[in-house]
Amino acid sequence: MAILATPSPRQKQNACRLPARGRAFRRRLLAWYARHARKLPWRGVCDPYAVLVSEMMLQQTQVRRVVDFFPRFLARYPTLEDLAAAPADAVREAWDGLGYYARARNLHAAAREVVATHGGVLPERPEALRRLPGIGRYTAGAVASIAFGIDVPAVDTNAARVLRRALGVRRRPPARLWRLAEALVPRGRAADWNQALMDLGATVCTARVPRCASCPVRTSCVTGVRRSR
Ligand code: ADE
Repeated sequence: MAILATPSPRQKQNACRLPARGRAFRRRLLAWYARHARKLPWRGVCDPYAVLVSEMMLQQTQVRRVVDFFPRFLARYPTLEDLAAAPADAVREAWDGLGYYARARNLHAAAREVVATHGGVLPERPEALRRLPGIGRYTAGAVASIAFGIDVPAVDTNAARVLRRALGVRRRPPARLWRLAEALVPRGRAADWNQALMDLGATVCTARVPRCASCPVRTSCVTGVRRSR
């Protein structure tokens, strides 16, 4: 599935600058993910349209709520063309119960735009994805990395919290956090990396009380090292 992108000059530069702690953090987190990745219905799915559907559903919504909706929606609209051809009220009905209906409208509009302007083929690059309705930096990064293997970060709330704690950069503004996140993406492993950060944030490095004692990356995490002193 993965098409490995040539690293940008910034990625090359950043890779050299990555401190040893960052490299250890990356290695440990990927090793943990290989063994403990959550089994979710959109994991291991190669169809970019299905990845887009999952990421739109996951915007501002917990994973456990999306788990049942995702296969149901795909059974009703198995392809991007099916979705594009559907009437708006039918799409609204298929989204019923998941909330934030603007996402359904955006997904529907995005499918129509892809059919109208990209010949029905979802664009791969995050910049092109971001021009579609309802797709911001996070969703573009998630789809580009998971569906197309492009080496870009996807910093959602969970990933941001993990990065801030691990790197000890509490007050860093979002733009700088994204730059740090770019530097950390391991070449050719962005899909695993981004989802590893999400899984660690959702299950171990949780919002209220981080479970540092059982964290697989605590020895290369600024907060974990501090808390075990
Ligand atoms: N939250 C947003 N995208 C996700 C994904 N691909 N896996 C798990 N949680 C997510």
